[in-house]
Amino acid sequence: MALPTETVYGLAADALNPEAVTKIFEAKERPRFDPLIVHLPNKEALGEIAIVESKVARKLTEKFWPGPLTIIFPKRENVPDIVTAGLETVALRMSAHPIFREIVRKLNRPLAAPSANRFGRISPTTAQHVFDELGGRIPLIIDGGATEHGIESTIVQVTNEAIKVLRRGPITDEMLRPFGELCEQSSSPTISAPGQLPTHYAPRTKLIVLDDLRDFSPPPGKRVGALCFSFVAAVAGRGPASYHGSTSKPRPATVATSTPAGFIGFATMRRLSERSDLREAAANFFRMLRELDAEKLDLIVAERLPEEGIGAAINDRLRRAAAK
Ligand code: TXA
Ligand code: MG
Repeated sequence: MALPTETVYGLAADALNPEAVTKIFEAKERPRFDPLIVHLPNKEALGEIAIVESKVARKLTEKFWPGPLTIIFPKRENVPDIVTAGLETVALRMSAHPIFREIVRKLNRPLAAPSANRFGRISPTTAQHVFDELGGRIPLIIDGGATEHGIESTIVQVTNEAIKVLRRGPITDEMLRPFGELCEQSSSPTISAPGQLPTHYAPRTKLIVLDDLRDFSPPPGKRVGALCFSFVAAVAGRGPASYHGSTSKPRPATVATSTPAGFIGFATMRRLSERSDLREAAANFFRMLRELDAEKLDLIVAERLPEEGIGAAINDRLRRAAAK
């Protein structure tokens, strides 16, 4: 069953039932070495499947659960190996999405739920995306509209009371810092965590990432799509400013993000946030990447976002989407 969370749509199954979990791997074509995140029905369930020794980890659960933070804990015996890919740890979170919460509470079972996309592809932020990825392979998709955050949960591991961010997400470094020292992620991926693999979230179209879209001119005859943060920053001084001049009133995304063909040489363009809001950009990110990918372009050129707050998490995903 696919269902919405506050981050992206998940493909859920009873985490304590290895056969059910196997079906997740099959539907996603996900390699078995990639462990799943388990979503708890309530905070009491934490101690039933994990060992909680760290005070810092405990405080993080108190502050951020339910919400978009996943924490790695030493696991108890009842968690099947297929969930953790044989690791001694389990990734846990509690979703804040009202539909997810209601379902997991009613079932009163921990639910293993990775993002509801085929392995390595763009995470789904609408029920339609799930259908496009997994239609015909899963029995049920629950449509709860577009997800709030639009990118996957932050994943942390607490070791010796220091917080290591394994995957950046909606809970930013700035938000974590008051709870403990943040230690650098080692550049060599020692954990098999594809969210941390160099290639992930990949569109089918080739994608490159630039600091400034003004440095790029689409080659003649090539259909190039642009993904930029705020249009003004991207093409200031290039086109007729009056056409896309910023307005204080947010317009519907479909209007705000389309650009006439041929404008500054790009075949099409998506703007992540007209009002330069990083959270809005995150919420739009995977959807717009998917839309560009559907346009049969020769190339997608994405503009790097400010490396602050959730911008850093989007940049991480851009980097991995570009690494092919
Ligand atoms: O927002 C989210 O976290 C979404 C929603 C559906 O909850 N889920 C999600 O799951 O993004 P998935 O499977 O696409 O990504 C889970 C990531 C993977 O990179 C996996 O390798 C890592 O979590 N992971 C799972 N268990 C782990 C563990 N014990 N140690 C380290 N990484 C782990
Ligand atoms: Mg995923």
